[in-house]
Amino acid sequence: MRKRSTMMRFCDLVDLTEKKFPRIQKFCEFLRDGTDYFIAPASTKYHHCFEGGLVQHSVEVAETALDIRKAMEHDTHFKEVNESELAFCGLFHDVGKGLREYYIKDGSGYRYGQKVKVPHAQLSLYLLTDWFAISWEVRQAILSHNGMFTGTGQEIYQRHNHTVLDLLLHTADMFSLKLDEPKEVKVKKEKKKVVDKEIENKLQGVINWAEEQENFDATFVYSLQEYFEREGRLSQRQLEALDNIIENCNIDMDEWA
Ligand SMILES: [Fe+2]
Ligand SMILES: [Fe+2]
Repeated sequence: MRKRSTMMRFCDLVDLTEKKFPRIQKFCEFLRDGTDYFIAPASTKYHHCFEGGLVQHSVEVAETALDIRKAMEHDTHFKEVNESELAFCGLFHDVGKGLREYYIKDGSGYRYGQKVKVPHAQLSLYLLTDWFAISWEVRQAILSHNGMFTGTGQEIYQRHNHTVLDLLLHTADMFSLKLDEPKEVKVKKEKKKVVDKEIENKLQGVINWAEEQENFDATFVYSLQEYFEREGRLSQRQLEALDNIIENCNIDMDEWA
């Protein structure tokens, strides 16, 4: 547990970024006067969902990323990551969430603002490129910080080689948000796993049934296969079983698609 206040830790990190980003102090004034960065939550219900949550999360991410880099310094890949850039990525990877339209106070909690249609990683990048000439590595790290699993992050992870900066930012982000995840969210995720298992079992039932039919119309199975494959829910065995069913059904997939 770190004892110093979030704002003191924020200021230390800003000092560290100053070497590479000379306009940083002016940018912080803009954040204070023109955005909700210092008072917004980091999410409506998943993590740091309280006033000041965004800056607290950002500081945690920057510090954790720097700590991991330090611990791994014996490896040149990590040593080569610029500390100023790393602190900058940690502090501002979610800065788009600080825009006044992003979260709206709703009673004792928050909700998404209706006007915001752009994912927050892109919003963060738009904002930062207005202020700084940032390197390609920093751009990629911010755009892909949501990681290997969702949206733009996933696309970028599939298309590009990851840099150590990407991995440090993403990992530190995960540490911070997972450690703060409210219990209700964990319970919800556990429930989702049970539902996923039920869906999988039902799908297995459909496969078993379809395997026993003669002249079965494969379009239904094909659409199921496509859906579950996209969702990453099919085991290799299920995938092969569905392939067999489709193959035996004389359907012209090109025409059907
Ligand atoms: Fe984020
Ligand atoms: Fe984050």
